[in-house]
Parts: sequence; structure tokens; C-alpha cells
Amino acid sequence: MEAKLGRVVITGVAGRVGPTVRAALHRDAEHVVLVDRESVTADGANETALKADIADLGALARSFEGAEAVVHLAGLSGEAPFADLLDTNVQGTFNVLEAARRAGVRRVVLASSNRVTGNYPIHHHVFPDEPPRPDGLYGVSKVASEALGQMYADTFGLEVVALRLGSFEEEPTETRHLATWLSPRDCAGFVRAALTAPNVSFVAAYAVSANARRFWDLAGGESELGYRPVDDAARFAAGFPDDDPFWHGGPQGGAYAGPDAVLPYVRDE
Ligand SMILES: NC(=O)c1ccc[n+]([C@@H]2O[C@H](COP(=O)([O-])OP(=O)(O)OC[C@H]3O[C@@H](n4cnc5c(N)ncnc54)[C@H](O)[C@@H]3O)[C@@H](O)[C@H]2O)c1
Repeated sequence: MEAKLGRVVITGVAGRVGPTVRAALHRDAEHVVLVDRESVTADGANETALKADIADLGALARSFEGAEAVVHLAGLSGEAPFADLLDTNVQGTFNVLEAARRAGVRRVVLASSNRVTGNYPIHHHVFPDEPPRPDGLYGVSKVASEALGQMYADTFGLEVVALRLGSFEEEPTETRHLATWLSPRDCAGFVRAALTAPNVSFVAAYAVSANARRFWDLAGGESELGYRPVDDAARFAAGFPDDDPFWHGGPQGGAYAGPDAVLPYVRDE
């Protein structure tokens, strides 16, 4: 990387993806602000830890003061009751974008999800500009977050990159991951590119490793963000059955899609 980033905030840094982003930014940014509702400990002089809930717009705006960019990871990371998804993923993303606007932040990277298009069938190669087909309520909340990002870009000139993360794992643990795996190394590469790519207004891109069996387009992300992933889940293929029903057809979300995945979270209000 050439120019070092200035001050960068990571929300939701205490989750699964956070430590990988934190480690990448430790090298690339002059100062990293660690935000989570859980306690996090700063490591060294170039980190500051702040306990804050993304429901608190004022606290977010204060923690964003002087920041050049925000990587927004905080949120509910799977299917959940719709009211909770609206509070945390939709209102929470609004709060992050609005706090960024107030604090004069230049760029926000949103952790979106492949699940915004999880109801496309597995034999369909999806480009990021195709209409959303969320595979559940969580996917719907991420469609709304992306729409908020687009609006903040168009209306206020905030630079926004929505990274549709694949399945972030050390290595694949289920058949679907042969298509959807996002290695930690590629995750760091995509986030770094999302923070540094020139000429960004709003970009939505899949962040997935270069898996031979992937069903999401990488060319758009590569041309707009300039990152070409390096890992391929195919090297783990021997650990999974070739005739797994997942490959026979059905939604890209696999077992995470369909009525059995959504109905447990539909409450009688
Ligand atoms: N892990 C994946 O494979 C994957 C795939 C697609 C998208 N994503 C998205 O990436 C992001 C990070 O994923 P993850 O797997 O690390 O999630 P995670 O559930 O492990 O961590 C989420 C973090 O957000 C924090 N958080 C939740 N609500 C908060 C609030 N109201 N205020 C402040 N902090 C709050 C939690 O304390 C936690 O540290 C999420 O937005 C998720 O939807 C993840």
C-alpha cells in the first residue's frame, strides 16, 4: 500500500470479522478507533477503544471526530426477528452514516452481505447491479442498509462502499462454502481496497475469495475497487461430498434460505 490511511474507525470490532480488519488497519492506518458495545482493549498508541452502541447517534458522531473513514461491521449478523434487524441493522446503519456526515468523514465501508441476493438460484451468476433477491429478513435489512448508503452518497456526497461479504471463515466448514468462502486474507484485501480505491461515489461489490465454484461476479469489484482475491476454496473440496444436494439446485443461500429459515423469527406481534 502506498499512502497510509489517517484515522479510521471500526464499528463492531469485537465480532468475528473485526480482528482481521483491525490487524490489516494496524499496518495501514495512522490511528484506529475501535468501537463496539462490548469492551475492547486498545493495543498500543495508535489505537483508541470506545464502548458505544450504534443506537446512540451522538456517541457515534463523537467517536468519528477527525476520522477519514469508517468500516461499519456492527450489527446482527444472521436471521433475527424483524424488529431487531430494523433497530440494529437499518436504524444502526442510518446512525453510522448520519454520524459520518456530521463528523465530516470522507468514506464509509458498509459490511453488507451476499444474502441480499441469496434467493437467486445457484446456477445464476449474479452481478452486483442485479435487483436484490434477499433470502430472508436479515438479507432485507442489508438491502435497506445498502439503500441508505446509496442515498448518503447521492444526496450528501459521502463515499460509500457496500462490501457483500461471503462466508468469512478460516477455512470452509460446509459444502456451500466451496462457492461462498471469504478467506481472512481476502477479507483484509477487500476492506483495504474499499478504503483506498479512487473515484468512489457508491460501489456495491461482492467480497468473496476466487473460488472456482463461486456464483458472484468479481469483475465489477475488481475494476471499481482494484482488488483481485487470491484464495480458492477448491483446495478444500476433497473434504466435502461432490453429490451434496446443495449442488442440485435451489437458492444460493442454501439452508439459510427458505421458509424453515425465516419462520422461526416471524413473531406474532
Ligand atoms: N461473518 C460473515 O461471514 C459475514 C458474512 C456476510 C456479512 N457479514 C456482516 O459483517 C459484519 C460483521 O460480521 P461478524 O461475523 O463479525 O458479526 P458478529 O456477530 O460476530 O459481530 C458483530 C459485532 O457487532 C457488535 N454489535 C452488535 N450490535 C451492536 C450495537 N447495537 N452497537 C455496537 N456494537 C454492536 C457486537 O458486539 C459484535 O462485536 C456484520 O454486519 C455482518 O452482517 C458477516
